[in-house]
Amino acid sequence: MNRKVVVFIASSLDGYIATEDESLEWLFNVEGEGDNGTSEFYETVDTVVMGKRTYDWVMNEQAGEFPYKDKECYVFTRSTVENTEHVTFVNDDVSHFIQKLNHEKGNNIWLVGGGELLSHFIREKLIDELIVTIAPRIIGNGIPLFKAGDDTLDLSLKGTQTFNQFVELHYTVNT
Ligand SMILES: NC(=O)c1ccc[n+]([C@@H]2O[C@H](COP(=O)([O-])OP(=O)(O)OC[C@H]3O[C@@H](n4cnc5c(N)ncnc54)[C@H](OP(=O)(O)O)[C@@H]3O)[C@@H](O)[C@H]2O)c1
Repeated sequence: MNRKVVVFIASSLDGYIATEDESLEWLFNVEGEGDNGTSEFYETVDTVVMGKRTYDWVMNEQAGEFPYKDKECYVFTRSTVENTEHVTFVNDDVSHFIQKLNHEKGNNIWLVGGGELLSHFIREKLIDELIVTIAPRIIGNGIPLFKAGDDTLDLSLKGTQTFNQFVELHYTVNT
């Protein structure tokens, strides 16, 4: 049984994951409940994958302290970046990369984002589950969760949860 690739991400109602200048203030000022299911989800993965812009954003937000030290972490970039104690930088074909991870035993893989890396995973049909937490905000423009021209995906609704003002939509991808 392969490990699942799961997207766990927050979006505005109009489908953006950040403003154009990469602000998430619109998201952080929504009244949620607890940590909005994050730690429960975090327990289900042992590997974290993200694009370089998301990594830079996270490092900036956390004042240089990498937050996912207890997981295996990979950051996609086309530049040459030296690995850190906690992060391996990869410049690989996404399908090949997931194939390699699937040869290793392990739990699920969290695809953190952002939109650019996600679109490569969608086009290569590498996503098994999507958990999208919708914020009650329409922000007009920004970095889209899904890009025009991405491939189509058929999904089945696995469940929903609400965290005060947030709604979490949990889908499995139909094969
Ligand atoms: N709302 C949420 O829950 C959420 C979650 C995640 C991220 N975000 C936000 O999303 C924003 C970033 O998203 P984004 O779409 O602009 O960028 P991204 O997908 O995080 O990163 C894009 C970068 O990743 C590298 N990359 C992407 N695909 C690659 C591939 N196939 N092979 C090798 N390298 C690849 C490239 O890095 P190089 O340029 O270094 O080559 C590219 O510039 C941030 O503001 C972040 O805060 C929000």
